[in-house]
Amino acid sequence: MILEINGVLDAASVARVRGLIDRGAWADGRATAGYQSALAKDNAQLPEDSPEGREAAQIVLDALGRSLLFQTAALPAEIFPPLFNRYAGGQGFGVHVDNAFRQTRDGRRIRTDLSATLFLEPPESYDGGELVIEEGSTSQAVKLAAGDMVLYPATTLHEVRPVTRGVRVACFFWVQSLVPEQHKRSILFDMDLAMQKLRGEIGDGHPSLVALTGAYHNLLRLWAAG
Ligand code: NI
Repeated sequence: MILEINGVLDAASVARVRGLIDRGAWADGRATAGYQSALAKDNAQLPEDSPEGREAAQIVLDALGRSLLFQTAALPAEIFPPLFNRYAGGQGFGVHVDNAFRQTRDGRRIRTDLSATLFLEPPESYDGGELVIEEGSTSQAVKLAAGDMVLYPATTLHEVRPVTRGVRVACFFWVQSLVPEQHKRSILFDMDLAMQKLRGEIGDGHPSLVALTGAYHNLLRLWAAG
């Protein structure tokens, strides 16, 4: 499932994040790539220990905590601390798959079940830079407004098309989900959305809705255990 989540950051938060990261010390993005993806990767990245990057990442994490749609879709167990990248002058990131695990600076190993890109530059200000995600026999090109995010399975092949005008700035991170298997997460997501809608229509206390909520949590308990 490829899911767009609009307005994760509002305009003021985008401006705050940009104000921080734009004055950070950017470095070659290949420093954090795996062996295979280093061959395809050509961009700039804020180092993981960048103070501006850390502060901006916290703004993103706070916003994710408030996003019901993100919580419902990702069922996050752990979130890799958000990082920031920048593409300009023909830079891109060829087709690759993300590493299965990422190690945080404090030594935690996070399994990458989901990948996320949060766009931080208005799409009309640059050409190219689409995130192209392959799913089965189809592919989807994603280029969103500043503050909008796409969440997609980390198991997919994906690329960032070369940026031929302007600058593409984005935040990216990975999620270890309570439910590692995508099709199970997808079923829970559909159930949760339907229950949220029902709550608005028939009220929280309807016995059938209480039963459905119980079934949802029993499935989550079962599937989170593996
Ligand atoms: Ni990637």
